[in-house]
Parts: sequence; structure tokens; C-alpha cells
Amino acid sequence: MTKYNFDQIIERKGTDSFKYGVLKRLYGRDDLIPLWVADMDFSAPPVVIEALTKRAQHGIYGYTFASDDYYNTIIGWQARRNGWAVSKEEICFVPGVVKGISFAIDLFSCEGDKIIIQPPVYHPFRIVLNLHKREVISNPLIFDGVQYRMDFANLEQLAEKENTKILILSNPHNPGGRVWTKEELAQLADICFKHKILVISDEIHSDLVFNGNKHVPFAMVSKKAAQNSILLGAPSKTFNIAGIVSSYSIIKNPKIREKYYNYLKKSELDDGTIFAYLALQAAYNHGEDWLAELKTYLWKNILFVDDYLKKNIPKIKVVMPEASFLLWLDCRELHLHQKDLNDLFTNKARLALNDGSMFGIEGTGFMRMNIGCPISVLGKAMKQLKEAVELREN
Ligand SMILES: Cc1ncc(COP(=O)(O)O)c(C=O)c1O
Repeated sequence: MTKYNFDQIIERKGTDSFKYGVLKRLYGRDDLIPLWVADMDFSAPPVVIEALTKRAQHGIYGYTFASDDYYNTIIGWQARRNGWAVSKEEICFVPGVVKGISFAIDLFSCEGDKIIIQPPVYHPFRIVLNLHKREVISNPLIFDGVQYRMDFANLEQLAEKENTKILILSNPHNPGGRVWTKEELAQLADICFKHKILVISDEIHSDLVFNGNKHVPFAMVSKKAAQNSILLGAPSKTFNIAGIVSSYSIIKNPKIREKYYNYLKKSELDDGTIFAYLALQAAYNHGEDWLAELKTYLWKNILFVDDYLKKNIPKIKVVMPEASFLLWLDCRELHLHQKDLNDLFTNKARLALNDGSMFGIEGTGFMRMNIGCPISVLGKAMKQLKEAVELREN
């Protein structure tokens, strides 16, 4: 017997939802099932809704501060979920994970410096670097047809290049869904430490790890990692509260911390809103049973899509994720140019997915599908996809 209803269809049109509201602008039509941007179509945990409602009903929304309870909540979460000890002074509110990355790029590198990313990877990494006029250095992940791994030999070579300042890590990895192991992270930490390359570890998907995989916070793997990293975390993906914006950073190295936190302070970027602090506290302190059920539901959705594709559209293969609700679909056996692949999904199947090539050229032939929705929606989407592929092939 489950306590929460993830089957419920909730109307999101008319809420200025990015996922639903900009389809026409981005895909040229709005009669699509949106399975793209990374938020889910589930209601947030009731404990979060209750906490926000109660506070909203108080009626006075004056200035607020990050209480001890806020810090203790993050400390408790990291200890319980990851077995990681962090202290209050190591934590700071950040107004968004991508913004947090952008601030670090601004502060710890200069125009023209080289920054390493490991594509196919979450596309804003590249966008932020381009906007900051940094040189993007790619260390493409190696795909063996089943799973991705890091190319350490290539990384060693890239790391030697002059003015290579930062590596941005997606931990766990979006897309592709790898949960990097302690050994992989330690090897990465050794290389970056040796070459004085700061690691920004984006751990936004870290609470959605499946099936005995274990998320390891980057800074936890070794002293070198701890001394040479900025970790960015958030309850936004985990509890579907991305619009509330309640991210934070954890920095072990006092020098890096002082520099980064002063940068934030200077522009009052370290100030959260009432609802940001409150939502994080409610979710982290009281949302764990909801999260457990969510993960079971998401895994059921993943198995459903995998099974459906195997039986009905075997040319599209799921890269089985170790974490999160973003399915990386290997469509290369359809032998379509990327433009035609997008046309198949959008105009024939009437589905809005993320074009795999936006995550780097390594994503060509792939599509990213968000399965964070009621399973009935996925059922409809799969049927539409099957019909579209059959129509094309017959
Ligand atoms: C890896 C990764 N980092 C960051 C974000 C966005 O975080 P924020 O909205 O806090 O900037 C996402 C959202 O999809 C993501 O997948």
C-alpha cells in the first residue's frame, strides 16, 4: 500500500510552467507531450506544501535569515544520506546551481582560460562557459554501448595544457545517469589536484540514486578532493521544487570558501527567500518517506519504457540510468540525421524530448526523455512513438 499518489494527472497549463508554456516557441507546436526539461509532473511532498501554506497564511513576508535549523538540516541530510560530515561554516545558500557554477567560473578563472567538461553533458555547462568567454575543453566520456565511463588517459593530457583552471563534474551524470564510484572520483581528484584544476561538482541529482548504487559526494573521496572542490547541491530535483530555488554549496577548503562566500556576500547572492529556506527544511527533515516512494515509482517508469522499447521499437535502446529521471535513449540504429530524428519525435510522434546533440556532438543519435510523470502519460507517449516509427519504416 503506497501513501502517495504519483498516478494523478495534475494540469500544469496556465501556471507559467516552462515545461508546458514554451513548447510552441521551442518546438514550433504545442500539441506535444512534454518529456524534456528536468522537472517532474508530480506534486511536491505534502509536508512541503503544508509548511509553505502555513507560512504563506502568516501574511507577513519580511526579511528572513538562514537559521541554525536550516544549516542543521543540510548537515543532517548529508550525514544521513551520504555519511558525510559537514559543518555550518562550510555551507552557503546559492541562488541556483547553474548560477553557482557561473559565479565560480567568474571568480576562479579569467577570459580565455580553459575549463574541462565531459560530454555528453548537461548543456548549460557549455553555455555558461561560452558566455564567460572561457575555452571549453572536452574530455568526452567513453560509451561502450551500455554505459559511460570517464577517459582518464585523455584527461591527464588535457590537464597538462596551460591555463586549464577548472573541471565541471556532473555527479551523478546528466544525461547518461552514471553514479560515479568512489574509485572513479578519487582518480579524477588525483589528476585535478596534481594539475591545480579546481573541481566544481554539481550534485543536484544525487538523492535519486537507484538499486544499490551509492552516491559519493566528490569532496568525500579523498583529502585532495576535499581541498580542491566546490560542491553544489539542492533539493530541487529530489522533491520537485526547482521553481523555489533552494540550492547551496559546501566547500571544505577554507581559502576557496572564503573567496567564494565573500563573492556571494558582496552582492547579497547568499540570501535565500523565506520559502527557499522553508521548503528545503520541510523536504529534508520530513520528506524521506515520499522520496522512497518516488524512487520506486521512477524505477517502475524506467522499466516500463525499457520493456516497451525492447518489445516494440528495439532500434531505440535505453541507456539504463543509475540515477534520476532522465532517460538517455540511444536511437542510432534508426540511422536518422539528427534533424530527422528530432522531426520524428516532435512532428510525427508529437513528443517534446531534448535533442541529444545539445549535450555535445557526442549526443548525436540520442534523445533525452524525462520520465518524471504519471505512467499513463508514458504509456500514451510510447504508443505515439511506436506509431511514428512504424509509419516511417513502412
Ligand atoms: C546537472 C544539472 N545541474 C543543474 C541543473 C539546474 O539547476 P538550477 O535550476 O538550480 O540552476 C540541472 C537541471 O536540469 C541539472 O540537470
